[in-house]
Amino acid sequence: MDKLLVHGGATLRGSINISGSKNASLPILAASLLTDEEVIIRRVPDVSDTNYMVQIISALGGEIERSSGTVRIHNKSIVDTAPYDLVRRMRASICVMGPLLARTGRAVVSLPGGCIIGDRPVDLHLRGLEALGATTEFDSGNIIITAPKGGLKGAEINLRGTHGPTVLGTDNVMMAAVFAEGTTVIESAAAEPEVEDLANFLNGLGAKIQGAGTRRITIEGVTSLGSIEHTVIPDRIEAGTFMAAAVIAGEGVTLHRICREQMTAITKIFEDCGHKIIFNEAGDSVTIHRGENPVGAEINTAPYPGYPTDMQAQMTAVFATTPGISVVKDTIFPQRFMHCAEMKRMGADINVDSGTAIIKGVKQLSAAPVMASDLRASAALVLAGLTAKGTTTISRLYHIDRGYEHIDEKLLQLHARVERVKE
Ligand code: EPU
Repeated sequence: MDKLLVHGGATLRGSINISGSKNASLPILAASLLTDEEVIIRRVPDVSDTNYMVQIISALGGEIERSSGTVRIHNKSIVDTAPYDLVRRMRASICVMGPLLARTGRAVVSLPGGCIIGDRPVDLHLRGLEALGATTEFDSGNIIITAPKGGLKGAEINLRGTHGPTVLGTDNVMMAAVFAEGTTVIESAAAEPEVEDLANFLNGLGAKIQGAGTRRITIEGVTSLGSIEHTVIPDRIEAGTFMAAAVIAGEGVTLHRICREQMTAITKIFEDCGHKIIFNEAGDSVTIHRGENPVGAEINTAPYPGYPTDMQAQMTAVFATTPGISVVKDTIFPQRFMHCAEMKRMGADINVDSGTAIIKGVKQLSAAPVMASDLRASAALVLAGLTAKGTTTISRLYHIDRGYEHIDEKLLQLHARVERVKE
């Protein structure tokens, strides 16, 4: 197991490229299961979550080649059962359920267990697939979902849950509906850019999907799909994380290969805090200058275009040393505050109660050995270490390797002083 040493106090400068989006790549890789023709997917980040997805597809029968961000997949013939040993490693494996059901008429996927960031049920996924006519059984920890004899039928489905729409649930229903007879309408769909990217991928294969990126998605069933070459959208959360690094410890950091429109909520908070975020005209590159007198802010996470829950931990790290009081409320995953306990060990002044963190900025954090608990929490700890006094040791680095492509190399490129070492 690796750990990361972050020697605090270096000034970040220079530029890096942002990788392709992990959360767009995962369902797009899964969607390749819908076609028996070859697909080529570019800018798939080299992170362990995409590696798990590649392994799952391969175990389902896919022929896969992967080299420097490009994944070539040919799913000539596939089986319907996703192997538990791989599925259990990643909750997002659930998004093979829709394509398997659509292509083979049946999907056997193990029921995801608990997760450190919250309960994460799949009731909405199942509600959507059942509305298309599928039946569900549970056996030995597996969900077995079966299409009716005549195949799935289009339907009107409302996917709103108590915490709002569901991203992977929308993906699953959209993928299953591609071959459903007639028209499917998903109301209260997730509008995240990653859902839109998946729809663009599917439409490129020959699906007929309209409205992705809005709350209402319409899918006209088709009978077959072809092939495609697709480039995954930039990772807006990785970009936001490096923006946070830039305002914590930077002096003019530039991020290339981003998409300005997809970062509006993230950018606005940095600007509200007094930092300068300057995009180029094309909106695919941004330079971040730390404000001279930054102030705190209030964040309420919300489904897109609201503030992403996947950025709240990193902002908590920013606020830990921003003068004044800041408030971070996570309505999507109210239990997602494990990073706060670790940051308190570094001297942060944070109180967490009922899904809300109240952060009183301190002058400087002090380094400590800390433990990563999930992907974004670990990113927050790396950020906290950048200006802390001394060397912060972050163990269980595999959490960060799930979703950040070569984070240590990118930080080194920006002149941070970090070292990956074996535990
Ligand atoms: N929910 C239900 N029932 C369901 C599904 C979800 O009640 O059937 C609830 C969840 O418990 C949560 C809310 O709905 O309160 C939203 O969850 P959602 O289903 O949208 O989450 P997800 O699709 O499983 C994706 C991202 C997460 C991100 C969330 C929210 C991927 C692979 N994962 O998960 O990303 O936090 O959307 O935006 O796209 C991360 O990258 O660190 C990460 C956790």
